[in-house]
Amino acid sequence: MQHLEKSSPCKVNLILNILGKRPDGFHELETIMHPVNVCDELRFERAPSLELTCSDSALPTDAGNLVFRAAQSFFVDTRIQEGARIHLQKNLPLAAGLGGGSANAAVTLAALNELFDNPLPPVRINELAGRLGSDVPFFLQSAPALATGRGEQVESLPPFKAMQGAAFLLIHPGFGISTPWAYQSLARYPAALNGTPGRARHLVTLLQTTNLKTAGAEFYNALEAPALHKYPLLILFQEFLRENGASACLMSGSGSTTFAITDSLSGAESLREKVKGKFGTSHWTAVVAA
Ligand code: C5P
Repeated sequence: MQHLEKSSPCKVNLILNILGKRPDGFHELETIMHPVNVCDELRFERAPSLELTCSDSALPTDAGNLVFRAAQSFFVDTRIQEGARIHLQKNLPLAAGLGGGSANAAVTLAALNELFDNPLPPVRINELAGRLGSDVPFFLQSAPALATGRGEQVESLPPFKAMQGAAFLLIHPGFGISTPWAYQSLARYPAALNGTPGRARHLVTLLQTTNLKTAGAEFYNALEAPALHKYPLLILFQEFLRENGASACLMSGSGSTTFAITDSLSGAESLREKVKGKFGTSHWTAVVAA
């Protein structure tokens, strides 16, 4: 096998309900993660040692990059005395709450396993993924999922009835939000820190049995409490999206991306044009079928 080329998609969280801080410092949560087909691209080939290059010079290409750490963990765990040349074409914004870096890490683990003739069983890849980051295991599969624990326990779900024919509009404001900052700030928002268990499972049922408007009313993200307080622009985005035809909208993950869901792809395109008219053209946006 000469080389492998893989797309690395992202996600949004339809609900992110936090159930308290754990003794290990992480937060217990229940979340519904939905795949979004807006992608980075990765290229892999076998090489004598590990080398990473990246289209975005703002990203480190050493162990500061999750792709590099994923590759390191693959070679350490398999004891393969070789490396790989990896190129990351970064299309997604950074620190955006879209799981872009986590997806890159998952794709790297799976691609290297393929490139070296599958030395690791799926259960071992899943363990390595969970150590790299809470969101990484989700990206080893491609379905919507209910994730629990610190986010690493993933239950894949069939496509949601309420999302049939729907589309996403993503808006990134141009600044990122640090995930550790968002979680640590929850200490000042006790209601958001100590959510009621069961909301995510209830939303799964609504997504499976009702429509987007009904299910969308139950979308919730505990990490909005600190993020919207610090960045009121994110509130303005949501108000505008709701007033202009979005069936639902929310901040994704720890932010800073806001997403809207519309009934159709053309609805998302026209909503994007309205957003540009109101907020200008400097924000990163993407429109994609759900
Ligand atoms: O697991 P990951 O590396 O993505 O987490 C980044 C940071 O986000 C953690 O260091 C922690 O501060 C916070 N976090 C958390 N609870 C989670 C997931 C992440 O507190 N369930």
